[in-house]
Amino acid sequence: MSPQPPTLFSPSLISTDIQGQLPLGYKLRPLEITDYTKGFYDCLAGLTVVGKVSEQSFQQTFEQMRRCEGVYHIVVIEDLAASRIVATGTLIVEQKFLRGCAKAGHIEDIVVHDSQRGKKFGIRLIDQLKHIGTMVGCYKLLLTCSESNEAFYGKSGFVRKDLHMAVYLNNDSTTTASVAAPVVVVPVVAPTTSSEATTSTAAILGAATTMTTNNSNSIVNNNNNNNNNIPHTDTTPKVRTVSIEALSASMESIMVK
Ligand SMILES: CC(C)(COP(=O)(O)OP(=O)(O)OC[C@H]1O[C@@H](n2cnc3c(N)ncnc32)[C@H](O)[C@@H]1OP(=O)(O)O)[C@@H](O)C(=O)NCCC(=O)NCCS
Repeated sequence: MSPQPPTLFSPSLISTDIQGQLPLGYKLRPLEITDYTKGFYDCLAGLTVVGKVSEQSFQQTFEQMRRCEGVYHIVVIEDLAASRIVATGTLIVEQKFLRGCAKAGHIEDIVVHDSQRGKKFGIRLIDQLKHIGTMVGCYKLLLTCSESNEAFYGKSGFVRKDLHMAVYLNNDSTTTASVAAPVVVVPVVAPTTSSEATTSTAAILGAATTMTTNNSNSIVNNNNNNNNNIPHTDTTPKVRTVSIEALSASMESIMVK
């Protein structure tokens, strides 16, 4: 029997209850270093552009993540008979100084292979990531999704909390394609006090003002996304409009801390 391949995080964080809810022949487990050969990328391709990644790059990235103990939790569901990954999802645990050095979890890259949808694998992935978040002490989980997936996450207790904002750097077709208009969906967490909310609001308004004036040269112009990788040589200061939705998302992210 071949030895167990390295896992990204401890299998002790996998819930036996959630495993028990899967159909026979499917296994819920941490990502393993050999999953490149089990169709991990075929599965991810159902979400967005994956780019060309060699097995060596995959393994290096895996080891890099594994060294960040307690941070990256990529779970997969494997079809054991076919030796194929049919679903995957990620929980990244962010250590904060706030709230007595609390932890917040970020859910990313949820995808079920298109041949396997409608079998509750998506819900099981989210349940499993919530389980890990609970076990490692996260006080909240956050995620971004398209409007069309809002009802799916709603089934797991997530609710819409304003919007988020993004700036794309070092743009090329692997990092900018298929960018849907996202919304932020988080469990409801109210600010502790009204003064905390007011202070946070002032802070983000100050940050936004700085961004649109003093720091504007560093902002990438996404409206000119022609993917030709020509360096941007125009040094004229640019003022970028911060939408009210983006601003309110930033305010919210501070208010829920
Ligand atoms: C979204 C996705 C993960 C759902 O996975 P799935 O395994 O097919 O979903 P499940 O079988 O677990 O569905 C659970 C429930 O959610 C519902 N549901 C699934 N997708 C839904 C959607 N997009 N909108 C509303 N409800 C949805 C199902 O009908 C089911 O409802 P029920 O419990 O009342 O029967 C899957 O469709 C997918 O991989 N999509 C492409 C990638 C993607 O968009 N990922 C999310 C990135 S934010």
